[in-house]
Amino acid sequence: MNGKIYEVGREFYMIRSKEEDFHRNIYLKKFVDATGRSVNMLFDPGTALDMPDLLKLLKEKIGGIANVNMVFLSHQDPDLTANIGNIMKLAARSYLITSVDTWRLVKMYGLPPKRTKTVESFDSYILRLKKSGHRMAFVPARYCHFRGAMMVYDYESKILFSGDFMAGVNTRQGEGIYATEESWEGIKMFHQLYMPSTKAVVKTIERIMALNPFPEVIAPQHGDIIKGELVVEFLDRMSKLQVGLDLVDDNNPETDLVVLAINNFLDLLDATFPELKDSFIAKFQKGNEFTSPFLFHGGKVTGIKISPDNALLQVYTMIGEVDDEEKRLHLKAIFMDTLDQLQIEFKVQDDETESIETNPEDSFNLDDIVG
Ligand SMILES: [Fe+2]
Ligand SMILES: [Fe+2]
Repeated sequence: MNGKIYEVGREFYMIRSKEEDFHRNIYLKKFVDATGRSVNMLFDPGTALDMPDLLKLLKEKIGGIANVNMVFLSHQDPDLTANIGNIMKLAARSYLITSVDTWRLVKMYGLPPKRTKTVESFDSYILRLKKSGHRMAFVPARYCHFRGAMMVYDYESKILFSGDFMAGVNTRQGEGIYATEESWEGIKMFHQLYMPSTKAVVKTIERIMALNPFPEVIAPQHGDIIKGELVVEFLDRMSKLQVGLDLVDDNNPETDLVVLAINNFLDLLDATFPELKDSFIAKFQKGNEFTSPFLFHGGKVTGIKISPDNALLQVYTMIGEVDDEEKRLHLKAIFMDTLDQLQIEFKVQDDETESIETNPEDSFNLDDIVG
């Protein structure tokens, strides 16, 4: 955590863990009534690592953890639930709110059943606060990525807390918490790797589109907050994205070709700059802090867990991390040449080389091979 508290909407606060590649976001909403008193709700409260900053947030905004009234868990993963036992002890009057499916698993932490309410027990999945009149809607994100995953829509701030849905690995440069065009690659990669099926993603988007009024902000548990025109733009792109099982196609010639190209590139890298080979292999195996998008065995890439175009972009990004400018530019040229030889189309915006693209025209293309 960097200790900073962000206000992302009306009485809606966020803290973010300090990892560079894959953050956890924790949110707090205060539902303030006419007398100035508030009902306080925490969303996906993180892990023990987040406790110092979480306690600071709670102290500053609601006078301390004892004043937490509700804790919402979007699903059962430890990156957001590991704290829950301690939080419910310290916030002795708090209630846990989560889906039946999530409760079945998180109760293993020894949580008090009497202080738990399932989302399914609320009429029409709507929670109303009697005194203040505030409302929030629970929105299922079925199989995104867990069967019982839930989102919460706060009508007052028009913020949709979306859990892992629309979350991303960080691909945006610089400070700040709001998504830009640069954030999309990370969101796309996270969903390709982690969401099980395109159908599940589309169904969840349909549920979001049906919210009235439409959300102004999507606040996920990882990565950047999406607001403004990017809400519709990213949902639209997401609805067309192939993810998970839909990408696992053992007989996909485009994937095979890209795997071949990456291995050819690694061979050329070894021949040209053997001293760089080990660091590249390490990058392929480790990936970013989230997980590697490549399958790797015996010094070779054997498969990809993301779309072919995204895989090429990941390799290109790795090349961009080579410190020595001469080697870096040389490797970019080798990479593009490798793709050209296999007639693979690839285009990327690159300040260093200006725009760079392969030129597979006037030769046979992929359709000729697969047709
Ligand atoms: Fe998760
Ligand atoms: Fe998560």
